[in-house]
Amino acid sequence: MKYLAPSVLSCNFASLSQQIRLVEMGGADWIHCDIMDGHFVPNITFGPVIVEAVKKSTKLPIDVHLMIKKPDDFIEEFINAGADYVSVHVEEVVHLNRTINRIKELGAKAGVVINPATPINSIIDIAEFVDLVLIMTVNPGFGGQSFISNSLKRIKETVELRHNLNANFLIEVDGGVNNKTITKIKEAGCDIFVAGSAIFHSDNISASTAELKNLIK
Ligand code: DX5
Ligand code: ZN
Repeated sequence: MKYLAPSVLSCNFASLSQQIRLVEMGGADWIHCDIMDGHFVPNITFGPVIVEAVKKSTKLPIDVHLMIKKPDDFIEEFINAGADYVSVHVEEVVHLNRTINRIKELGAKAGVVINPATPINSIIDIAEFVDLVLIMTVNPGFGGQSFISNSLKRIKETVELRHNLNANFLIEVDGGVNNKTITKIKEAGCDIFVAGSAIFHSDNISASTAELKNLIK
């Protein structure tokens, strides 16, 4: 199964629930929430209060991507706010095995995120414990950036790693996903496609969601 996860980062927050309704109409599978703290990445977005509002607006799974320093301090709050998936960056978390266990003990699915310049191999010893591996295909911090070209090779490497380890995590791609890049990303072996600006900055949010959904069938 392939899943499309619109990122509300690029939505119009003045009408959050209506915008979510539009991506639902277009066939969205998950809702991706980008949490930024101005320290781990050079931008600030939103916290658990907005995740709770997203949760109240949809029955779709909520996919929370933590781009924050010390994510351990906030995991419980985001899960209480309604996160079904919580993903933390391998570059930030020191005791990653403990953090992944804690996410699962609190009742959510656990993901690990890898930045574009972090070797895929760095997840080798956590891979069998995670539900999700999120590959950043832009430098995290902002919507609307271009897909970094060596990312396709990195997605394929992750597929291979999963195979070699006999692991069963899902592979998610985040950054620069649009109607020009999505087919190649799919061919590389991605399972979950995050898209922000390609959906919410388009003229017709439902139609652009449906277009991307159709391209990953
Ligand atoms: C980037 C975020 C992404 C972002 C993707 O730091 O993690 O989820 O919303 O935006 P687009 O799809 O515009 O590249
Ligand atoms: Zn994200």
